[in-house]
Amino acid sequence: MHLKKLKLVNYRNYLDFEGKFHHLKTIIIGQNAQGKTNILEAINILATAQSDRAEKDNDLVYWNKEHALLFATVGAGRDLHLLEIALQINSSGRRKLKINDIAKKAPQADLLGNFFAVMFSCDDLYLIKGSPSIRRNWLDSVIFQLDSKYHRTMQSYQKSITQKNALLKNAREIGMSRKTLKEQLEIWNEQIINSGSDVLSTRLDFIKEIRPIAKDFQDNISKHTEALDLIYKSTIETDKNVIARSQSHEQSAAVSDKETLKTQFKKALDNSFDEELARGQSVIGPHRDDLIFLINEKEAKSFASQGQQRSIVLAIKLAELKIIEKRKDEIPVLLLDDVFAELDESRQDFLLHNLPKNIQTFLTTTHLSNIQKEFLKGAQILEIKNGQVVENAECRI
Ligand SMILES: Nc1ncnc2c1ncn2[C@@H]1O[C@H](COP(=O)(O)OP(=O)(O)OP(=O)(O)O)[C@@H](O)[C@H]1O
Ligand SMILES: [Mg+2]
Repeated sequence: MHLKKLKLVNYRNYLDFEGKFHHLKTIIIGQNAQGKTNILEAINILATAQSDRAEKDNDLVYWNKEHALLFATVGAGRDLHLLEIALQINSSGRRKLKINDIAKKAPQADLLGNFFAVMFSCDDLYLIKGSPSIRRNWLDSVIFQLDSKYHRTMQSYQKSITQKNALLKNAREIGMSRKTLKEQLEIWNEQIINSGSDVLSTRLDFIKEIRPIAKDFQDNISKHTEALDLIYKSTIETDKNVIARSQSHEQSAAVSDKETLKTQFKKALDNSFDEELARGQSVIGPHRDDLIFLINEKEAKSFASQGQQRSIVLAIKLAELKIIEKRKDEIPVLLLDDVFAELDESRQDFLLHNLPKNIQTFLTTTHLSNIQKEFLKGAQILEIKNGQVVENAECRI
């Protein structure tokens, strides 16, 4: 997969940006707050349909403009056939999408599966030490790329959760009787159980797939001293906490059975009725789940050193890349946002030596001296100042 051209109009701090990328490596250099990450974010949106730092679409549109336009020309498949992607993001939150000039009905879901990217940024340390929502968002954004059906399922799940929350809030405000509330909740709970079980089983399958690959990378990065483990911690727990334990003991047969999952989901919802009523919001389901990283059987969030946390993120990102490559038969574009300043020499070496040979990489930095010389050879250097390209040259090192 090769991003050949990117044009941004009224996007973040770019009124009009055009970049052509003929090299395998593009280094985006500039001082702080000039727009380096904005370019990687735009590329990542074309792959995942979402930004992990914008709260709403309006943040992505140049201040006071109506909409932003993102155009990409991509070489896809083994024959690198051309794909033209045009995404319009309105400040109101509506989007429009054309692929090869054909308008698509579902701009979010139809964008997915055309272009693949893996973004690795210094903020990814929050994957380990940040809140559960950061880990859920990461999980979802990877699965979106792998399975566009999952995006639709997730949308319908979230819609039901929003409706259920509105009902719970209203019930508290008007003092609705328990019996009436129970009856009215049933319709939303049924939908939540249906779409939520699909979300849950897709996530569990993904964890099952990424776990051994990430473990293997971590084992090699740490020279066999650190054993990584990933456990999906679900809010839907049976008496024996079947879901989490089956992940850690590789007995996923117990959870792959959808009917069992639905029964467990229903039981958990029934058991939490009083809590949901008291809190006025839905507390059970994949929107409240978490992912736990363990190093040598201890929770990384509390015990791992900064260096160990960086290693885990590196292992996870390389595993993500490997899964996309395997499942989609495409080498995703790699987006490295300021990571070289964060990684020591041995981790930089590990990253560079574990990438597929022909991977296209975009990398941001404030100083070329942060980057290994070997990596700079033959790279395109784009210098950015205040949302404009001030230099576009090939590195002569
Ligand atoms: N919607 C927007 N409209 C206009 N400008 C914006 C918008 N959103 C962000 N910006 C501007 O974009 C700039 C930040 O861009 P970006 O995060 O890409 O910087 P950066 O070069 O990666 O900096 P750093 O090296 O600090 O990470 C800031 O100047 C910010 O004010
Ligand atoms: Mg940045």
